[in-house]
Amino acid sequence: MALGGIVIGKRTTLRTPTEDDLPSYSRWMADMRVRRAAGVWHQPAMPATWKERLKEQAKEQRAVLWSIETEGRLIGLVRARLGSLEGPPAAHLQHFIVDPDQWRKGYGLDAALALHRYFFDYLDLKRSGFELRADNVAALRIAERLGYTEFGRGHQVHYRDGAYVDEVWLVMQREAWDERWAEKEREYLPLGKAPR
Ligand SMILES: CC(C)(COP(=O)(O)OP(=O)(O)OC[C@H]1O[C@@H](n2cnc3c(N)ncnc32)[C@H](O)[C@@H]1OP(=O)(O)O)[C@@H](O)C(=O)NCCC(=O)NCCS
Repeated sequence: MALGGIVIGKRTTLRTPTEDDLPSYSRWMADMRVRRAAGVWHQPAMPATWKERLKEQAKEQRAVLWSIETEGRLIGLVRARLGSLEGPPAAHLQHFIVDPDQWRKGYGLDAALALHRYFFDYLDLKRSGFELRADNVAALRIAERLGYTEFGRGHQVHYRDGAYVDEVWLVMQREAWDERWAEKEREYLPLGKAPR
C-alpha cells in the first residue's frame, strides 16, 4: 500500500518506486528549481540514507509513493496521503515532482490526470486537496485544469527574492471531478457499474 502500484496515463505511468530511482530523487531534491517551487520530500543525502527512507516509506500506513515514468524513463515522483481520519475518504497530495529537465512537455498534467482518475474513479474518494505557493504557475495551471478551487490562503508564508508569497489551499470535491471528467477519458469504471 505505501509504495504505489501501476497507474497508467496517456504518456506517463505511475509505478512502484525502486532503489534504482533513488539517485534521481536525491538530484531533484537538491535542484534549486524544485526547491523554489515546492517543499522537498527529503533533503539530499547519501545513497544508504535514501535506501533507509524507501524502506520507511514502504512501511507507511497512510502515505503512498509512486515514481513517474515515460517510455521506461524515470521522470518524477508523487506522494499522497490517502484515508479518512476525519470525514469521507480523501487524498492529500504532498509531493508532485517532475524532473526539472523535463518540465513543460506535458508530463505533469498527464501524470496528474492519471493520478486523479485513480483517486476518484478507482478508489472512489470524495475529495482531494493540496497546498501550493501562489507563484507556482505550472502547478496552479494543472490544478485549475483538473478542477481544483482555492478555499483558503495563508498570507505571505514563503520568503524569497526579497519578498513574501502566499500559500494557496486547494480542494477538489468528487462532484467537480465528475462534472469535468467523468464522461470523458474514463480509465476506470465507477464502482458498482457494469462494463458497457
Ligand atoms: C508542477 C510540475 C509537476 C509541472 O510539471 P510539468 O511537466 O512541467 O507540467 P506540464 O508540462 O504538464 O505543464 C502544465 C501546464 O503549466 C504550464 N506551465 C508549466 N510551466 C510553466 C511556467 N514556468 N510558466 C507558465 N506556465 C507554465 C504549461 O504550459 C501547462 O499549461 P497548458 O497545458 O495550458 O499548456 C513541475 O513544474 C514540478 O515538478 N515543479 C516542482 C514541484 C511542484 O511545484 N509540485 C507541485 C506542488 S505539490
